[in-house]
Amino acid sequence: MAIREILTVPDPRLKLVSKPVDTVDDDLRALMDDMVETMYAADGIGLAAIQVGVDKRVIVMDLSDERNDPRFYVNPVITPLTEDLKPYQEGCLSVPDVFDSVERPKKVKLEYLDYDGEKREEIAEDLFAVCIQHEMDHLEGVVFIDYLSRLKRDRAVKKVQKLVKQRGAPTEAAE
Ligand code: NI
Repeated sequence: MAIREILTVPDPRLKLVSKPVDTVDDDLRALMDDMVETMYAADGIGLAAIQVGVDKRVIVMDLSDERNDPRFYVNPVITPLTEDLKPYQEGCLSVPDVFDSVERPKKVKLEYLDYDGEKREEIAEDLFAVCIQHEMDHLEGVVFIDYLSRLKRDRAVKKVQKLVKQRGAPTEAAE
């Protein structure tokens, strides 16, 4: 396993629409293992593959307090089960140190392939619903600040660029 670099806004790769996975094989599991390690190292609760530069429809998540319950979602599909929207203060590893309120349906049905490629279905509510919808957006090239006003979005991007510069700009150095 390895910790991968997390892309931050305004990296254009974060705008890509991720591609469906054909087969859940050992290569994909190696990617998922790296994603979990990367998510834990960054103290995040969810991560989409495109955030480490891989445009595949893969999400990892861990909502447990103990950080020992990694979940894997391959080719996930969600269907809202209610029109009730709930606001939640969201953050994102690709937009470090920025938090703002986003409204999303509070209950969704989730269908996906798991770590072993088995088909699964779950109902997601509360934080799980927020997180899976936030990560699903990444697969469509959408970041949560895209829901904010232009002013707030521009401000967020500037803040992140400044922060990345202070950290030593690993993103730019790698290109
Ligand atoms: Ni995110």
